[in-house]
Amino acid sequence: MNEGSTPVTQASRPLRISVIGTNYLGANTAAGMAEFGFDVIGVEIDENRVKLLNDGKAPLYEPGLDPLLKKHVDSGRLRFTSDYQEVGDWADVHFICVGTPQSDGSDAADLSQVHSVVDLLAPLLTRPALVVGRSTVPVGTSAVVEQRFHAEAPAGTGIEIAWQPEFLREAHGVDDTLHPDRLVFGVRSEQAEHRLREVFATPIAEGSPVVVCNRPTAELVKGGANAFLATKISFINALAEMCEATGADVSQLADALGLDQRIGRGMLNAGPGYGGGCLPKDLRAFMARAGELGVEEVITLLREVDDINQRRRSRIVHVTHELLGTDWVGRNVTVLGAAFKAGTDDVRDSPALDVAGRIQLHGATVTVYDPEAMDNARRVRPTLRYAASAQEACQEAHVVLHLTEWPEFRELDPVQLKSVVETPLMIDARLSLDPQAWRNAGWTYRAPGRP
Ligand code: UGA
Repeated sequence: MNEGSTPVTQASRPLRISVIGTNYLGANTAAGMAEFGFDVIGVEIDENRVKLLNDGKAPLYEPGLDPLLKKHVDSGRLRFTSDYQEVGDWADVHFICVGTPQSDGSDAADLSQVHSVVDLLAPLLTRPALVVGRSTVPVGTSAVVEQRFHAEAPAGTGIEIAWQPEFLREAHGVDDTLHPDRLVFGVRSEQAEHRLREVFATPIAEGSPVVVCNRPTAELVKGGANAFLATKISFINALAEMCEATGADVSQLADALGLDQRIGRGMLNAGPGYGGGCLPKDLRAFMARAGELGVEEVITLLREVDDINQRRRSRIVHVTHELLGTDWVGRNVTVLGAAFKAGTDDVRDSPALDVAGRIQLHGATVTVYDPEAMDNARRVRPTLRYAASAQEACQEAHVVLHLTEWPEFRELDPVQLKSVVETPLMIDARLSLDPQAWRNAGWTYRAPGRP
């Protein structure tokens, strides 16, 4: 790690950390850094969000995050601002935690938020500092970002860029921040490595393994991890197609495969496929970057992963069609779940809402219920109907689709629910209800991938 060592400040006081961007990643990072004992300022251009955060409230539903924010806003160790001036010379380490969504009209990542951080922060950096990217970016981004800091910051080459990808899972963000299963430091100097070891001293002392590597490797670790997780999900969903053709049970198959420690049971739940703000867009950005680099074979592999994922959604619509018959007009379809997975209110690229929208396009009346994601769902799919409870959503339903695996759906009473629906048809796309209980209560129970 000795290509051109850049000075990194040695502060005698506790480290000061800025976290730029305070959505899911940034809010967790800022609260986590305060919990590690540092003085933290979160920078956010949205004034409303700054107010919310300064009251100790996260801008999204994430279990455990509000109490941690509140704890450190109250302790004085954490505050939020919309003013970059406040952090320019104040912080020793700046974390970039802005979003990198899919670009409009292409598979590539949209890096405009990362570049606007450079636009606003670089002119304010008059003393040496470490800037650490945590956003998920295409391989090669940190080098470009560093060139810009060197050219545009008064401290010039005194600014070093490291990349330290995050592996936070929504609904487990606080735990994954405080107790990471690994820390990847993509650095080009020993000083940067030492500074990152200082920042993450608490989890390192607890035993979190550290991988120190160059920056392209760190950038690829994140993209590669998400591409692999997506591949694993699509692999089991491809096997679900085999199960449907043969009468095999994909859940038992996954259990048996997962007992082989080389395979592992994680990410082997068959269902409506992966969604959310990460796996779908990261897989596509990975393919787009592979294309730019001329590594076409990677695209061939991952394109199929994406196609299998889309097929699962079509398959659920198809099974609904099989059960309802050809005429969908006047049919009531209940969709249980709107979030892309349980434990979050995030509906980005949610399989549940996608399937609900497709069924509505066929002419059915679709009513959705989700315990946490109703507001977000209404915003992105205003034409669907929404109910205040699972019970209400199921009134006079001709078919019920279980599309997000919230625990409360597993606790529904099939006997009681049968009395409110028009026809007792259940499509358990998450394969997590008890088939026997539903069948015993008189329901036609279908779970694609299970006999
Ligand atoms: C994912 C990764 O798991 C994190 O490690 C990563 O840090 C994060 O993206 C990110 O890039 O920031 P997340 O999007 O929160 O985290 O969700 P996952 O728990 O991975 O689930 C993704 C999707 O796959 C969900 O739609 C979920 O329902 C689906 N899934 C998951 C399955 O269909 N089967 C499974 O066995 C597991």
